[in-house]
Amino acid sequence: MTDAGATEIPIGSGDDVVRVRQAVREAAGAAKLSLVDQTKIVTAASELARNTLIYGGGGHARVERVDSGLGRAGIRILFADEGPGIPDLDLALTDGWTSGNGLGLGLSGARRLVDEFSLDSAPGAGTRITVVKWGR
Ligand SMILES: Nc1ncnc2c1ncn2[C@@H]1O[C@H](COP(=O)(O)OP(=O)(O)OP(=O)(O)O)[C@@H](O)[C@H]1O
Ligand SMILES: [Mg+2]
Repeated sequence: MTDAGATEIPIGSGDDVVRVRQAVREAAGAAKLSLVDQTKIVTAASELARNTLIYGGGGHARVERVDSGLGRAGIRILFADEGPGIPDLDLALTDGWTSGNGLGLGLSGARRLVDEFSLDSAPGAGTRITVVKWGR
């Protein structure tokens, strides 16, 4: 735990990806997201954590509860790495495009599964991705 109940999880192995999934599931349940929405945010987090590990060379995730101020609760997750960065964001977000051996569906799929998605990356500057899922 860091400030305000945020949980920071290092991502350096496949086991850490599992830990991220568990932390997101727990936080999404506590924020009273529906079971379907819990599964969506866990799936998105799993893809993003795997990218952090494989392409970012490891990094960390930060999971926290957010409140809209209008009675809605949600979950925000930041993924950060100091890896090589992503040279072409539009290309990386294209369904089916991969620079490696993947299916190229992780980033684009994750974006569709969440309510808010922001991607900040540049060659040599690492990658930061923030996603938010709101309860209904
Ligand atoms: N954290 C990151 N750092 C650097 N490059 C990244 C990062 N995350 C994604 N990328 C780049 O974006 C591409 C698309 O990512 P995406 O998750 O959609 O596909 P994939 O990981 O290649 O395959 P899949 O996730 O379907 O198994 C990756 O192939 C990689 O080149
Ligand atoms: Mg991927």
